[in-house]
Amino acid sequence: MDRIETTQLPRSATERVRKPLLRGVHHLALNTDDMRATLDFYVRILGMPLLGGLRTGPGGAERAQTRGNPPYSHIPHYFLDMGGDSTLAFFEYPKGVVGKADRDTIAAMQHVSFVCKPSLYRQMEQRLKENGVEIVFGPKAIVTPNIHSMYFYDPNGIRLEISADMDGNDDDLAVVRSFTLSREAMRRELETISDDAAWIEGMLDCMPEEEPLYKRDKF
Ligand SMILES: [Fe+2]
Repeated sequence: MDRIETTQLPRSATERVRKPLLRGVHHLALNTDDMRATLDFYVRILGMPLLGGLRTGPGGAERAQTRGNPPYSHIPHYFLDMGGDSTLAFFEYPKGVVGKADRDTIAAMQHVSFVCKPSLYRQMEQRLKENGVEIVFGPKAIVTPNIHSMYFYDPNGIRLEISADMDGNDDDLAVVRSFTLSREAMRRELETISDDAAWIEGMLDCMPEEEPLYKRDKF
């Protein structure tokens, strides 16, 4: 990795990172109060195979020894295969003990989008409709040139999205390359949040070396 010229950052943060150091999601952990309905939705409708499950350790005062687990003792914690060698996890909280999250708050998960092969996109739409899941927006091209999305909610009220590049290739979904802006477009965007030219150039130097798949001025 190259180094960025700066005296303000510790050495490890001056590396010019153009390839991610991490690979993606190991497990995304969410909360439910109805594991059965959640499994029916994700396994049966979205097609995420069940991988395993366990009971958490003690909650309450002993929670400090349990790596930040929920504050309830011995609750179910299940894992699903969300594809791409990544997993989705749920904790089942006792019913009625906590309120529902507001996704429009800081540090909340606003929504999550799963990527779909273009050839399976209509089938996913059909599966949602056949199972009575309301699609609240889409399916519609929302990112140029032809990246489609549809939005819906899981039984817990978690907002979900399925995205597919309908001009893309089933065998190489190229999520990153299809979703990368040109350097020029990104410079214009960064200039709307900062007037620190050196910082902007440093950020632009951390964009991928590979050319974006699509030429676009904006998303
Ligand atoms: Fe999204």
